[in-house]
Amino acid sequence: MDVIRDPQHMQAQALAWRAEGVKVGLVPTMGFLHDGHLSLVRIAKEKSDVVVLSLFVNPTQFGPNEDLDRYPSNIQRDLELCEQEGVSVVFMPDADAVYAQDASVFVQEEQLSQGLCGLSRPIHFRGVLTVVAKLFNLVLPALSVFGEKDAQQIRLIRRMVRDLNFPVEILSGPIVRESDGVAMSSRNSNLDPESRKQAIVLRKSLQAIEQAVKSGESSVAALREVAEACLSDSDLGTLDYLEFVDDESLEPVTEVGDRAVLVAMAVQFPGARLIDNIVVAK
Ligand code: PAF
Repeated sequence: MDVIRDPQHMQAQALAWRAEGVKVGLVPTMGFLHDGHLSLVRIAKEKSDVVVLSLFVNPTQFGPNEDLDRYPSNIQRDLELCEQEGVSVVFMPDADAVYAQDASVFVQEEQLSQGLCGLSRPIHFRGVLTVVAKLFNLVLPALSVFGEKDAQQIRLIRRMVRDLNFPVEILSGPIVRESDGVAMSSRNSNLDPESRKQAIVLRKSLQAIEQAVKSGESSVAALREVAEACLSDSDLGTLDYLEFVDDESLEPVTEVGDRAVLVAMAVQFPGARLIDNIVVAK
């Protein structure tokens, strides 16, 4: 396994692979890897000749009062896990090699990014799309794999690929959960023990919604009440949002019908803001 730090070196390697007809799969991450990331590596490995995992805590996707300086990191362990999973290259550039000091071109999506996480994190998706576009240009992957936990992110990346004609197939991997049902996230490690215990309220609220839909409830107002009853079990978590949106347009809906509805939520705990989601339909 190679570790490449220099973006130009990464791009030269990618061009050499392209000339040889090697199919590259990219798994973008911010490190502190867990089984969720590794499941994405396995998907990439199955469908490509070489897997590049990028490990880059992207500063442009963090707002001024967010957790950039507290984002967990264990590079040694990440490299060992990548080696075990058969990753060919870990691309881990420094921030000043990725962004010119006077960088002035960014990728801004203007529709799907407006609600959900975009409301409380207004610059987040501009940073995500910009860095993913840069990674696509540096690694030249035929395919790239993202986790479904970041439901809005993957829909935005698909939209960017469509609207900017990136020749990259976007694949997704299902949410991987801890044994109690909490969605795996690098940020879980920033929770104190009591918050970590209460983090299950996201999953419980979503499961209660799913159950209510199965039992015939379709009114979003009623489903919201079902979730709010579960959320009252946590005194440490503050609901950032619980939204019911059309799975494609991300426009809010008032009823669950035949079309898939994305139910997405974010809860702020003292150490970390957590997200989770499900897709439901009648
Ligand atoms: O999902 C993440 O970890 C990040 O948003 C990504 C896609 C690696 C971009 O920095």
